[in-house]
Amino acid sequence: MSNVNLDDIVSLAKRRGFIYQGSEVYGGLSGTWDYGPLGVALKRNIMNLWWKMFVEERDDMYGVDAAILMNQKVWQASGHVDTFTDPLVECSNCKSRFREDQIDTKKCPTCGKTGTFSKARQFNMMFKTNVGPIDDEASVSYLRPETAQGIFTNFKNVVDSFYPDLPFGIAQQGKAFRNEISPRDFVFRSREFEQMEIEYFVSPKDWEKQFDAWVKAIHEWCKMLGLPAASVHELEVPASDRAHYSKRTIDFEFDFPHGRHELLGLAYRTDFDLGNIQKSSGKSMEYRPKDGGEAFVPHVIEPSFGVERALMAVLTSAYTEDEVNGEKRIFLKLPTHLAPVKVAVSPLLKNKEVLSKKARAVYADLKKEFGAVMWDDNGNIGKRYRRQDEIGTPYCVTVDFQTLEDNTVTVRNRDTTKQERVKIEKLVGQLSV
Ligand code: GAP
Repeated sequence: MSNVNLDDIVSLAKRRGFIYQGSEVYGGLSGTWDYGPLGVALKRNIMNLWWKMFVEERDDMYGVDAAILMNQKVWQASGHVDTFTDPLVECSNCKSRFREDQIDTKKCPTCGKTGTFSKARQFNMMFKTNVGPIDDEASVSYLRPETAQGIFTNFKNVVDSFYPDLPFGIAQQGKAFRNEISPRDFVFRSREFEQMEIEYFVSPKDWEKQFDAWVKAIHEWCKMLGLPAASVHELEVPASDRAHYSKRTIDFEFDFPHGRHELLGLAYRTDFDLGNIQKSSGKSMEYRPKDGGEAFVPHVIEPSFGVERALMAVLTSAYTEDEVNGEKRIFLKLPTHLAPVKVAVSPLLKNKEVLSKKARAVYADLKKEFGAVMWDDNGNIGKRYRRQDEIGTPYCVTVDFQTLEDNTVTVRNRDTTKQERVKIEKLVGQLSV
């Protein structure tokens, strides 16, 4: 378990504009979260890094962005209508509902009465809706509980448009929805969240080799997020606990503040999905090898990443407390490529026009270069440093009276708190952003 306290992360995330409770002004909506200005920047940096690593930098990967609403047949063929369930129990005294495997059912966690739970019933976690003005069985649809199916249903389209060599992958990022019985632990278990998924199509002869290559790629991803290797663990999921479609699954777990839990998953889904689509749509999902070999339905390795869990692991790894000049300091030691703000620029004194004017010019230049640059002249310089430390800004640039004489500024490093003077014309080259 991490020694970071979850309450400290939740409190910093709210105080500094990363993440707020969804619909907070109306008392909230359980399992939903809103991203503030810094949260959305951090989330985008994580998602863009993933896209860059797994789509742009590879030549065996194709991106898609499928509709969230899909034909109900998708969810029938995938098995989600029948089996995407969690065991629900209800207390006969206070009517509270829980996921059976998350509580001790001898005693109700809400009212404390014993022996009040009935037998569990299976609760389907998909959000059901109707498409169009007629509310009948034919118009039933679901908010997608995973992005994966939008990939499988486009397999043939991508093959027909690009005719890629096998193995190749299709990647998608986007919202997923699950009506979790007990959302909990901040954004870790939400009802609306984002996934980044890859379906990697392979020859069945080749699946073990490809699976191993993905294990390596996932560790590389965790490293790029700044997660300490010692906090990431592989759990070989036993057959009895695997999803209905999987022949092998490794859960990559992380030491979160609330314990060691699943960060992301890697599954060998065989030809389960394409085979089912072929059966239920009547359309061939076969791939014809370019060397003239026999056509076959490819098998699939699926690395499935949750954005919220990645973000929580990043915050947990980055959250640091130390002491500066005898005072406690909190800072986020974020990798620079993930930091929502790369540089903050300040005039030493807010009300000195001559300093502000010079600082504004420095700010404009850096913003043109790096984009994520913040103007910060609120409070005294000490307070500004503390604020920027808490949001993980790697560098603070300050324009002072000496700047007016020798055209240098101070650059303060977040991690060491050390300051050095740098010539303005050398600033862009010197900041490793
Ligand atoms: N397509 C396979 C699939 O969806 P999953 O293990 O159910 O597999 C994949 O989900 C990832 O999605 C998880 O490892 C986790 O990171 C994220 N995830 C799943 N349910 C979540 C929830 N309720 N809240 C936040 N993230 C969730």
